[in-house]
Amino acid sequence: MAEKVVLAYSGGLDTSVAVKWLKEKYSLDVIAVTIDVGNERDFSAVRQKALDVGAIKSEVIDAKELFVKYFVFPALQADAVYEGQYPLATALTRPLMAKLLVDVALEEGAAAIAHGCTGKGNDQVRFDVSINALAPDMKVIAPAREWGMTREETIAYAKKHGIPIPVTVASPYSIDECLWGRSCECGVLEDPWVEPPDDAFTWTKSPDQAPNKAQYVEIGFEKGIPVTVDGQEMEGISLISRLNELAGSHGVGRIDHIENRLVGIKSREIYEAPAATVLLQAHQALEALTLTKDQMRFKQEVATECADLVYNGLWFSQLNRDLSSYVLSSQRYVTGTVRVKLFKGSCRVVGRKSPKSLYNLSLATYDKGDKFDPSAAEGFIHLWGLPLKTQAQVQLLGDKEGPFSILPLKGREED
Ligand code: ARG
Repeated sequence: MAEKVVLAYSGGLDTSVAVKWLKEKYSLDVIAVTIDVGNERDFSAVRQKALDVGAIKSEVIDAKELFVKYFVFPALQADAVYEGQYPLATALTRPLMAKLLVDVALEEGAAAIAHGCTGKGNDQVRFDVSINALAPDMKVIAPAREWGMTREETIAYAKKHGIPIPVTVASPYSIDECLWGRSCECGVLEDPWVEPPDDAFTWTKSPDQAPNKAQYVEIGFEKGIPVTVDGQEMEGISLISRLNELAGSHGVGRIDHIENRLVGIKSREIYEAPAATVLLQAHQALEALTLTKDQMRFKQEVATECADLVYNGLWFSQLNRDLSSYVLSSQRYVTGTVRVKLFKGSCRVVGRKSPKSLYNLSLATYDKGDKFDPSAAEGFIHLWGLPLKTQAQVQLLGDKEGPFSILPLKGREED
């Protein structure tokens, strides 16, 4: 009996060709595993297609709940956004997929795991590294990285082996979707000067065609996790879906990112992430109300670190585990409600409240009821400015050029 390989199967051209190719090249029987992370497909058709193209077994795993609970919400609590732009949709799905593929591979006694990534992207790194971390002895095969076929050759291979060519092959774009966002690249988007055409977007209305009337939405958070929309309790999957629809209909969540890939190249990706955009903004607004200045500053550093870890395929690292404990702890009082205004592509926080708010009106107000003691400011300023004053007395600040050239240069020669 032939050895088995577990293939991450999307139903697209490359993974369909991979089913045949793995048999031809490695004499492996393919078990196709399709993982549903909210990419709204006809999964029963995908499952059947894997069998039709030669898999010995095909299964679909609904991973939406796991995805939201263990990947999306922790990333939201961390405020993880890569390079200040990308909310990490695709990148967050990979470690979960790796985990589920490893589970199946061990259960089936498979000799290897295969995925459809090419040799140019980040996803190959995320899959390989995550699988290796979870099952160090497992062989990983990336057919599309190995076979060296061009797009045309892959299509020809498919035709030769009677593999149906998906209609999506006609699409000029490479697309990846999950609940947290849609990633779109290739085609005309490869020219960074070209404005993304309308057909690059499917989740969001063009802002100029969005309603002329603004819409308000209130998000309730409990310990950094969104739990209500407009006062109505919702569980994660439907809450995110609802916000994707709502914010998307107002043209919110379009991101045009020239990003630095892990493999050393810059690439241009168009993201649509309506729910992520709203939730990240709202969450940060609530943190601004409930965390101190020092907590926020430190947490921003952690956020960058977390985003890089996720992007760079290091989810299953001890560092990520350590940071996630910090993030979780930081969310103890991030509870409250944020009001967001959606209007023609923009999403603005216009209100926030929390039972654990650190905003103290009697300290902040310029009106009646002011409890702030301005006389304490005098002594504070004296000490705060003391190092500067001391320095100014002995060291000259003026310069010959630049912003400090407006200051006197007297005595400069003696410096
Ligand atoms: N650049 C993104 C990342 O590395 C998305 C990758 C998948 N994109 C795609 N259009 N297929 O996470």
